[in-house]
Amino acid sequence: MSSNFTDKTVLVTGGAGFIGSHLVRLLLSPACGAKVINLDALTYAGNLESLQDVEKHPNYRFVKADISVADEVRKVFEDHSIDWVAHLAAESHVDRSILSASVFVTSNVLGTQNLLDCAREFEVQRFLHVSTDEVYGSLGSEGAFHETTPLAPNSPYSASKASSDLLVRAAFHTHGAPVVTTRCSNNYGPYQFPEKLIPLMISNALQDKALPVYGDGKNVRDWLHVEDHAQALATVLAGGKAGEVYNIGGNCERENLTVVKLLLQALGKSEDLIQFVKDRPGHDRRYAIDAGKIRDELGWEPSWNLERGLAETIRWYQDSQDWVERVKSGAYREYYATQYGDRLA
Ligand code: NAD
Ligand code: DAU
Repeated sequence: MSSNFTDKTVLVTGGAGFIGSHLVRLLLSPACGAKVINLDALTYAGNLESLQDVEKHPNYRFVKADISVADEVRKVFEDHSIDWVAHLAAESHVDRSILSASVFVTSNVLGTQNLLDCAREFEVQRFLHVSTDEVYGSLGSEGAFHETTPLAPNSPYSASKASSDLLVRAAFHTHGAPVVTTRCSNNYGPYQFPEKLIPLMISNALQDKALPVYGDGKNVRDWLHVEDHAQALATVLAGGKAGEVYNIGGNCERENLTVVKLLLQALGKSEDLIQFVKDRPGHDRRYAIDAGKIRDELGWEPSWNLERGLAETIRWYQDSQDWVERVKSGAYREYYATQYGDRLA
């Protein structure tokens, strides 16, 4: 993979988010050796403290910009000579989209189109659009999502992601844009914002707080370690075929209740902490991914199994109480001003 990135400047959008921060770290590593421009608006989900270990890397630059504002996006392309784009910036939490959907449309749909427009104008050579398995909707007890499964999104979040997928598809068919789309299952691992299932449950259990399980807890998700996802994204960025979609999955389907019980067991906590709460409206029952295409065409397969991944993730959250506390208190939002203050207008 390494030679593919030599001399490439990659614009990573959403690089201050959970998955983006892992991709930034991987692209800067000697295995890839890319130059990285991290474009992020620093919404509540953007946390530059997750990138402290690479922020002084000579090949790394951070730019605060909002992808839904065309002029801000354009300026980034004017200021930097960008070869490839890895587009991850998005509003990503289903529960938030149920409460208030419009920012999901603005960032995920309009933001994607703004990036596609600039990528065309500035002749970007590759554009990786990072999407989600949720665009396919919900499965019954059998079967898996294939790249050809019809889109049937059920939440405002997944509808906004499906809309952005269609704009990416249109850019390929209309303008011959060098786009490739990935659709991934649920990620977990270090630096995940503690509003998502696994970090929320770890964080609550560590404080002996109740663990809120939606509905009957039998909804199924396919869990993928975030480092495996970053590897898959780099693989598709380097070798994916323009116009194609690649599903990415972890081969780790589990009911939510099973995951929660595994976490409690590993933490030595009682199952009495589990609290069944009102279900998420429109809650998708089951996701499962057939990731045969990326395996057969590009040679990528997940390397983490769930038991090892959860054990390492628990260890990371136990060792990173400061990071968690600064997220919960909101202190992480001051980091940009303290580190990049001299660049503020
Ligand atoms: P995240 O919420 O942790 O991070 C999103 C990042 O995007 C944040 O840094 C935020 O500041 C930034 N952002 C949001 N709106 C922006 C805007 N208008 N302009 C610029 N930056 C903006 O998300 P994540 O979990 O890392 O997900 C990254 C991508 O991967 C998303 O596109 C998501 O749909 C997709 N995805 C996530 C998962 C998962 O399990 N987390 C699975 C499949 C696909
Ligand atoms: O499938 C990929 C998607 O995975 C990504 O596109 C999304 O960005 C990402 O947020 C994730 O969506 P989910 O809705 O599946 O993830 P979440 O962690 O919110 O919930 C996972 C499951 O756990 C889901 O069935 C709802 C349930 N849940 C979640 C929370 C936060 C609970 O039972 N209790 C909770 O408190």
